[in-house]
Amino acid sequence: MPEQKQLAINGQNHAISAPDDMPLLWVLRDILGLTGTKFGCGIAQCGACTVHVDGKPVRSCLLPVSAAIRRAVTTIEGIGATAVGARVQKAWLDLEVVQCGYCQSGQIMSAVALLSTTPRPDDSDINAAMAGNICRCGTYVRIREAIKRAASSEA
Ligand code: FES
Ligand code: FES
Repeated sequence: MPEQKQLAINGQNHAISAPDDMPLLWVLRDILGLTGTKFGCGIAQCGACTVHVDGKPVRSCLLPVSAAIRRAVTTIEGIGATAVGARVQKAWLDLEVVQCGYCQSGQIMSAVALLSTTPRPDDSDINAAMAGNICRCGTYVRIREAIKRAASSEA
């Protein structure tokens, strides 16, 4: 039986039992029921599983849960509680970015991470920050517009 681990997810502490090398994604989805974070490729190539660890975007499909202990994890379920997250989600809704939706939690998490460090990103900043998030529905144009709208609506 693996020893208990303490995780801080969206500002709440959770004691979970999981092997050290279990990917954070499976802890979120299968143990904690936070299914907003998606599994796409499992090899850090699509971005669907993006969450924040200490504010930085990470691919949770490859990050072992042991690397998230004593760090602040934020998922799509909690990102709207931040000022930047709320602005990004509003811009996403206003511009109806989503098509099938599968990639969008990862897209939003990467966009929030970008705007948190670069409040007024230009196209090359957006390209660099979002390059690892794949959308099979091709919503890239609306994603870019929504990032710019969220940036321009900064309080
Ligand atoms: S599922 Fe993690 S990057 Fe694709
Ligand atoms: S909205 Fe369908 S994969 Fe991006």
